[in-house]
Amino acid sequence: MQIVILKDAAAVAEYGAQIFIDQINRKSDSVLGLATGSTPVALYQELIKANQANKVSFKQVTSFNLDEYLGLDGDHAQSYRFFMNEQLFNHVDIDKNNTFVPPGDAQNPITACKMYENKISQSGGVDVQLLGIGRNGHIGFNEPSSSLASRTRVKTLTKETVEDNARFFAEGEFQPHLSITMGIGTILEAKKVVLLATGENKADAIRDMCEGAVSAVCPASALQFHQDAVVVIDEAAASKLVNAELYKHIESENQKLQQYLAELPN
Ligand code: F6R
Repeated sequence: MQIVILKDAAAVAEYGAQIFIDQINRKSDSVLGLATGSTPVALYQELIKANQANKVSFKQVTSFNLDEYLGLDGDHAQSYRFFMNEQLFNHVDIDKNNTFVPPGDAQNPITACKMYENKISQSGGVDVQLLGIGRNGHIGFNEPSSSLASRTRVKTLTKETVEDNARFFAEGEFQPHLSITMGIGTILEAKKVVLLATGENKADAIRDMCEGAVSAVCPASALQFHQDAVVVIDEAAASKLVNAELYKHIESENQKLQQYLAELPN
């Protein structure tokens, strides 16, 4: 795991966005894995800015979102399809026909999950997957006890996740307790994974993910098995890491190495 500790949420968003911009500029038809929630919003703002400044184009990009509430269609204001349109797709030059979110209104959700997996494979697989992390260590909607080999499937949300997300729903409004989510096995197949976390309320989850045992108790700990996982966090989210100074040292050495390699004659 590459653990990058930055001073604040703005720096986290910029760093994360640059990874996506570099990826698309290297491979214009990249396949991106995308996430919803509060954390990626600032990164999406950076991508929109870069697109509007002609620093990156999404014209040939394909995207797959991690998850969707089961029971909400894409026009519902709390659906993740709606969120993605509002927060990113409506503001960049992406072809919406190439953006995929698990169908929350699927007649047969089990078949829909299989079709989603097939679609990812047919696209050549995800080049870079963006992730947030729940306070309980979930990634996507893979809650604690999820199989670390799981595939896209219907998943029950924990009470904690339902409570955390209640802020987005009006009082009395139907709030789904089920979701369709990519599995942890699906996520681990992405060629690169970028997980962002900010704020003190993520500090326990970040410690368990990076320094705890690999365990279904903290689903994100499965990323310890990924050969190219980058964890980008602010000081607050890093505040419970025992080895924070080591990660900062490694990162500063990495920067020097990158600089040296960039200056090598061709
Ligand atoms: C969203 C998702 C979730 C969130 C996580 C953190 O697509 O997959 O795992 O990333 O719940 O959410 P925020 O960023 O709102 O703290």
